[in-house]
Amino acid sequence: MRQAIEALLAGNPGGVLPIVQAGHPVLRRPAHPVDGRVDATLLRALVAAMAATMRAAPGVGLAAPQVGVPLSLAVVEDPGDPDADRAAVRERAVVPFRALVNPRYVPLGGEEVAFFEGCLSVRGYQAVRSRWRRIVLTCEDLDGVRTEEEVTGWAARIVQHECDHLAGILYLDHAEPRSLCSDHYLGAWASEPAPRRAAAALGFDLAAGPTRRSSALGAGRAD
Ligand code: NI
Repeated sequence: MRQAIEALLAGNPGGVLPIVQAGHPVLRRPAHPVDGRVDATLLRALVAAMAATMRAAPGVGLAAPQVGVPLSLAVVEDPGDPDADRAAVRERAVVPFRALVNPRYVPLGGEEVAFFEGCLSVRGYQAVRSRWRRIVLTCEDLDGVRTEEEVTGWAARIVQHECDHLAGILYLDHAEPRSLCSDHYLGAWASEPAPRRAAAALGFDLAAGPTRRSSALGAGRAD
């Protein structure tokens, strides 16, 4: 693992790493816990490269398997939505940059919300995905300090998306199939605060939501 990460970073001296796409097996395997097999210096260098990669994409989250590294590690950063109405409906607030080490979540309250989302490893498309509106996130920081906190709204969506990556799950696995939308057409729907017109036009039920599997909860380990 250490040598592979060193080779990855050395091979991309600009710091922006290639993002693997759906079809690569690393996106379908549970990630290994960050447990000391990678030293702190290398871990920080990897996080810096993941941050540069996420910002260059651009995206609001990136999991280590997306750069080919099967570690339970993700970075998140969201500048928010300049459209105030959409931001309010989606509860999308600014998320400062942070690294999530060995993150896991459990739902809080049981309420689900459905919006279009996409993935840097599934380029060119978005689909409506139901997510828990509130979760409790447990993770460590780069110093190994463990925290537990409530996360709500779009930030909770980002955390769930990244945790799913660490369990080998892609958002499409549990998205509303009829909502699948090429970027070419997404402009017609993305300006909506909630995807009601898209639901009517494409023929899917926003209220029903996709079937969930318990395996979608938590992430980062094979258990
Ligand atoms: Ni993704």
